[in-house]
Amino acid sequence: MKTTVHPAKRPLRGHLVVPGDKSISHRALLFGALADGESTVSGALRSGDCRSTLACLRALGVRVDETDAGDLVVHGVGLRGLSAPSGPVDCGRSGTTMRLLAGILAGQSFPTKMTGDEQLLRRPMRRIVDPLRAMGADIEAVDGRAPLRIRPAALRGVEHTLDVASAQVKSAALLAGLYADGPTVVRQCGPARDHTERLLAALGATVRTDALVVMIEPPASLYPFALRVPGDISSAAFPLVAALLVPGSEIILREVGLNPTRTGLLDVLRRMDARIDIENRRLEGGEPVGDLTVRASRLTATTIGGECIVRMIDELPILAVAAAFAHGTTLVHDARELRVKETDRIETIVSELTALGARIESQPDGFVIHGPTPLSGGAVDSHRDHRLAMALTVAGFAADGDVELRRAEYAADSYPGFFDDLRSLEVGDD
Ligand code: S3P
Repeated sequence: MKTTVHPAKRPLRGHLVVPGDKSISHRALLFGALADGESTVSGALRSGDCRSTLACLRALGVRVDETDAGDLVVHGVGLRGLSAPSGPVDCGRSGTTMRLLAGILAGQSFPTKMTGDEQLLRRPMRRIVDPLRAMGADIEAVDGRAPLRIRPAALRGVEHTLDVASAQVKSAALLAGLYADGPTVVRQCGPARDHTERLLAALGATVRTDALVVMIEPPASLYPFALRVPGDISSAAFPLVAALLVPGSEIILREVGLNPTRTGLLDVLRRMDARIDIENRRLEGGEPVGDLTVRASRLTATTIGGECIVRMIDELPILAVAAAFAHGTTLVHDARELRVKETDRIETIVSELTALGARIESQPDGFVIHGPTPLSGGAVDSHRDHRLAMALTVAGFAADGDVELRRAEYAADSYPGFFDDLRSLEVGDD
């Protein structure tokens, strides 16, 4: 689908409640399936990626219903109650589904094959295969990539030292740890998002975190739960940057998840002089949440690297758009992980923003952007990457001319309703 994004005709106004957090939604569905009894998840994200998790769970014999109010009810089968699927388990384009579920499937008494869309089949899986094998798992990849073949094996609790700051890898090891014969310890090299630890602890598992080290003991069972999923800060990032860039804008983003392992973008934008205020801070389901007021701002360039990167890894495409409008040279480094996301996001960001007139150069582990450069209209492509689709749409809102965006529909992998939400701010809904 090709979409024409017109420059915003007026300041953005009004408020949005962005869809539920993708990472927490995946985990709520997966862990609810392993709990003893019925769990209710409200505000779960209903995107392409989360539908992949739902489809996998259904293939493994888990019933998930929807209530009239739109909540999901997961009929947990217990830690050992999953059943053998009748064919390969299809994870679509969702890396989170494949990597987390592989940890769970490594501990089952039946074999499985995990596959996905060709984009997912290109992404690195050795990063989970190696730690799972160290626990005794019988798991095979093809040249370090999916499809994955998993056979039943007895798992050992071991100590892992990760060389990639990845929540998906950490989670795969911790989830296999649910089935191990003793404690599993994961030493991280950076502060990857900790939703797995928070939710498993809330379901009764013994999980201890000390700085970057996490330990889990295999529980006898997991409690069922009722959870309200906070809004996804990674989705909020797009209207947020749009409001910073479109002159005169002022918007409110309500119920946004503010887990400190996810708020790198807010820290960086504030350093760039963005006007963002957080109100109504509270805890919901063990996760910090708040309302963000965002006002159009004159941004200054900055340098981003180190531990901040993992706390904003999914927001770097939209940060690049903000940086094109910032005064000075913005440098993003230590972000080599961008190369193994849905696309090689260093190359795709650089090629598409260059097509709109940005002065941006790729580096082996990031990019450099010279600003401010007014973006022009032009023809760009999402490369089937949801975050690229949305970042380029925001670029179009702030550009001088129309942006023709190819394959815009991939935005729905994480933010269904994105285009309508953004347009609603332009019209102003209050
Ligand atoms: C995710 C972790 C991150 C992130 C992805 C979701 C998760 O990936 O990029 O969108 O839910 O655990 P890595 O853990 O591979 O960095």
